[in-house]
Amino acid sequence: MDEKSGGLAGITVGETAISTVGKKGKGLTYRGYSIEDLANHARFEEVAYLLIHGTLPTKVELNTYKKRLIQGQSLPIAICRVLEQLPVKTNPMDVLRTAVSTLGCLEPESLRHTAEFIADKLMSFCVSSLLYWYAFQTNDQHLTVISEQNSIAGHFLYLLQGHVPDAEFRKALDVSLILYAEHEFNASTFAARVCTSTESDFYSAIVAAIGTLRGPLHGGANEAAMKMINQYDDVPSAEAGTRLLLEQKAVVMGFGHRVYKESDPRTSIIKPWAKKLADRFGDPKKFLIAEAIERVMWDEKKIFANLDFYSALVYFYLGIPTSFFTPLFVISRLSGWTAHIREQRANNRLIRPLADYIGPDPRPYVGISERT
Ligand code: SDX
Repeated sequence: MDEKSGGLAGITVGETAISTVGKKGKGLTYRGYSIEDLANHARFEEVAYLLIHGTLPTKVELNTYKKRLIQGQSLPIAICRVLEQLPVKTNPMDVLRTAVSTLGCLEPESLRHTAEFIADKLMSFCVSSLLYWYAFQTNDQHLTVISEQNSIAGHFLYLLQGHVPDAEFRKALDVSLILYAEHEFNASTFAARVCTSTESDFYSAIVAAIGTLRGPLHGGANEAAMKMINQYDDVPSAEAGTRLLLEQKAVVMGFGHRVYKESDPRTSIIKPWAKKLADRFGDPKKFLIAEAIERVMWDEKKIFANLDFYSALVYFYLGIPTSFFTPLFVISRLSGWTAHIREQRANNRLIRPLADYIGPDPRPYVGISERT
């Protein structure tokens, strides 16, 4: 095998009409729209609709879509009972994986519960499940999960904070959801497509994707980046700590990318939001520490901050618990996963590559009494 194809690096394994990731000078686009335009002008719900349905919604379509998202806020009683069983120490990604899987038992995909119907429900449903579980396990509270907020960011912040969110906070979260929504054949999307290619059901593909996103080399990097930033008290300790990590050949979380080689176009959009929130709170310390790490990474290794690095800081300033960072990635990426599951189904062939065999040559079976 070509050494470079380890991890399928540089290998094109299919076609997509959903996004471009820095290819052919197009930068990052969703269905042909630049990420800069979408982040600056659209709301997350428009972007989710665009990804799933292929076109930007009209006003009427958007209003209908938002109403469906509000309908998805409620939780079946059986889901509440399951969530109440999950220990407080459960990884919130496992909470989401379990909630989605359980919903798949209660309301399996069918002609009535189509993939699009389930997808519209899942974004609000995941927010409600996460916050219901959190409130129950931390405060013994049966949280009312219907916020009537007509945005995913608003619904999340309302349930977390218990009141209608500040407009700027909602916008900051909204932008991060737009940036996280889609990214071509990343590992979790690819997992969803592999599962879909076997003609499995929608829920199974989403569960496969959630499990894949959980790892620190992928979605879990935003939490790992925050934990790293939190280790430092000031700029000099952050600089020294980062240099030490590099000397030890450790992976610095929130940096680098498989496809991008010079920068992640999403970073220059999310970083100013981290700065804006730092200024608003009059609390620049974490931001300065993050910038110090970014500086050392670039000066020493020419490795850039990816989306996860400054998203982590935005979430920190919004008062979001660190263990919710990757679940927020799930809630947003549900839109991209859904688009890819639909695209895979529209032109499906079982995904089943080959492997070069590197094991022992053929040999005779050894009976158990003769083994040493
Ligand atoms: C996401 O695919 C997507 O599109 C994903 C994503 C999406 O939206 O879906 O963009 C979301 O998953 C972003 C990535 C989040 N992960 C991290 O932040 C974890 C830290 N990053 C690295 O582990 C790494 O950069 C990866 C996993 C993202 C990419 O890894 P590759 O392509 O396999 O590259 P590599 O690990 O082989 O590294 C190549 C070189 C090595 O140096 P040399 O041995 O050649 O000297 O770059 C170095 C690496 O050591 N390197 C790093 C580094 N990233 C690369 N060194 C230190 N810290 C890093 N973060």
